[in-house]
Amino acid sequence: MIENQDRGAWSSKLGFILAGAGSAIGLGNIWRFPTIVGENGGAVFVIVYLLCVLLLGLPVMIAELSIGRKTKKNPVGAIIELAPGSSWKYVGYLGVLTGLIIFSWYSVIAGWVVGYLYKTVAGEFNNIVDPAITGTIFENFVADPVITIFLTAFFIGLTSYVLLKGVSGGIEKTSKILMPLLLVLLVVLAIRAMTLDGASAGLDFYLSPDFSKLNIKMVLAAMGQALFSLSLGMGTMITYGSYLSKKEDIVSSAVWVCGFDTGIAILSGFVVLPAVFAMGIDPSTAGPGLIFQALPGIFSEMPGGQMFGVGLFTLIGIAALTSTVSILEVPVAYVVDELKWSRRKSVISMALVSFVLAVPSALSNGASDFFGNLFGEGQSYFTVMSTVFGDLTLALGSLFIAVFVGWIWKSKNVFKEVEEEGNVFPMKGVYEIMVKYVSPIFIAIVFGYTVWDQILK
Ligand code: PHE
Repeated sequence: MIENQDRGAWSSKLGFILAGAGSAIGLGNIWRFPTIVGENGGAVFVIVYLLCVLLLGLPVMIAELSIGRKTKKNPVGAIIELAPGSSWKYVGYLGVLTGLIIFSWYSVIAGWVVGYLYKTVAGEFNNIVDPAITGTIFENFVADPVITIFLTAFFIGLTSYVLLKGVSGGIEKTSKILMPLLLVLLVVLAIRAMTLDGASAGLDFYLSPDFSKLNIKMVLAAMGQALFSLSLGMGTMITYGSYLSKKEDIVSSAVWVCGFDTGIAILSGFVVLPAVFAMGIDPSTAGPGLIFQALPGIFSEMPGGQMFGVGLFTLIGIAALTSTVSILEVPVAYVVDELKWSRRKSVISMALVSFVLAVPSALSNGASDFFGNLFGEGQSYFTVMSTVFGDLTLALGSLFIAVFVGWIWKSKNVFKEVEEEGNVFPMKGVYEIMVKYVSPIFIAIVFGYTVWDQILK
C-alpha cells in the first residue's frame, strides 16, 4: 500500500510481476520486435535475441531490482547511496535523460496506435487486404502534422494522468486486468494469421534460421532490442524495485517478467510475420509502418474482424500506456526524490519537456522534410533518437550497471538483498560470473565493434 503520498509501493508480488510485465510489455514487443526481426532476416535474429535475454537481460534485471529495493530510491539517488562521492551517479543521470527521450518518441508511435484505433472503429479498413492501400493509408496518416502532434500530446497527457494517480492505484490496477487479456487476443490473432493463404513463407522466415545472415549489426540490434523490451539499462527496474517489498522474491519475479515479455514478443511475431508474407509486404524495408500496414489485412480476413481490430488496438494502446508510465516514472522519481518537488509538479514539468522533444519525432515521418532527413538522407530525427536512446544508451547503461554490481557494489550484496527475508538465490556462482564477466564483456565487444565499424573505420 501507499507508504507516503509521494512514494508508493506494490500491494503484492503478483501486483509487482504484472506491473513489471506491464512496463516490459509494450510497443517494444508488438511493434518494434516484429519490425526488427523483419529488418534483420528472421530466425537467426530471434535466436540471438533469446540469447541476449538470457545472458544480459535476466542478470541485469536482477541487478536493477536489487539496487532499487535495497535503496528505495530513483536510479540517481540509489547509486549515490551505494557509491557516495563517485562518478557512478552519471549512470543514473544517463538513465533519466534516456527516459525523457525514449518517452518522447515512444509517445509518437503510441499516438499512431490511438489513431489506428479510431480508424478501425470508423471501419476504414473493412475488407482491405491490398498492402498498397494499407501502405498509403499509413503514409498519409503519419505525414499529417496536426493529427500526429495532437495524438502524441494526447498520449503524453494520458501517461501523466496515470502517474498523478500514484503507483499502486494507477499503474498496478491497469496492468492487472488488461495484460492477460492481451495475451488471449494475440493467441487468437496468431491462429488466424498463421492460417492465411501464403502465411507459410512468413513462418519459414521466422523459424528456419539462415546462419549466413548472422552479422555484428544484427547482434547489436538484438542486444538493444532485448534491453529495450525488458525495460533495462535506464533504471526503470531500479525504480520499480524501489516499490517492491522485502518479502518478495526478486529472482523469481525477474524470471517471470522476462518470461512474459519474451513470450509476448515471440507471439507478436506469429501474428505479424505470417500476415506480412501473406500480403506480400517486404519486411526488410517496411520500417516503422510494418505492423500498421499488415494488421488490417488480418482483420479483413476474419469474421468479426473489425471487432478484433478494435480490441487489438485498444490493448496495444494500453500496453503502451503501462510502458510509458514506467518510462516517465524514472525522471519523475528523480525530481520527486532529489529535487523534492511535489509529484504533481514533477509529472507536469517532465511531461512538458518530453512533449517539446516529441514534436520533431512526430514530424519525422513525412510531415517535415527537415526532420525527416535531419541526420542525412533518410536518417530522420526519429530514427536517430530511437537508435541512440533505444539501443545504444540502454546498452551502455546496462554495461555500467553490470560492472557496478559485479565489481563495486559486489554480487554478495545482491544475494544479501534477495535473501533478506528467507528467499533463496539459486546458482550464485553462475550469477556472479554473469554480472562480472559475461554481460559486460559481451556488451563491450558488440558496442566497441560497432563504434569502430560505423565511426572509426
Ligand atoms: N519495455 C518497453 C516496451 O517494450 C519500453 C521501455 C523501455 C520501458 C525502457 C521502460 C524502459 O515497450
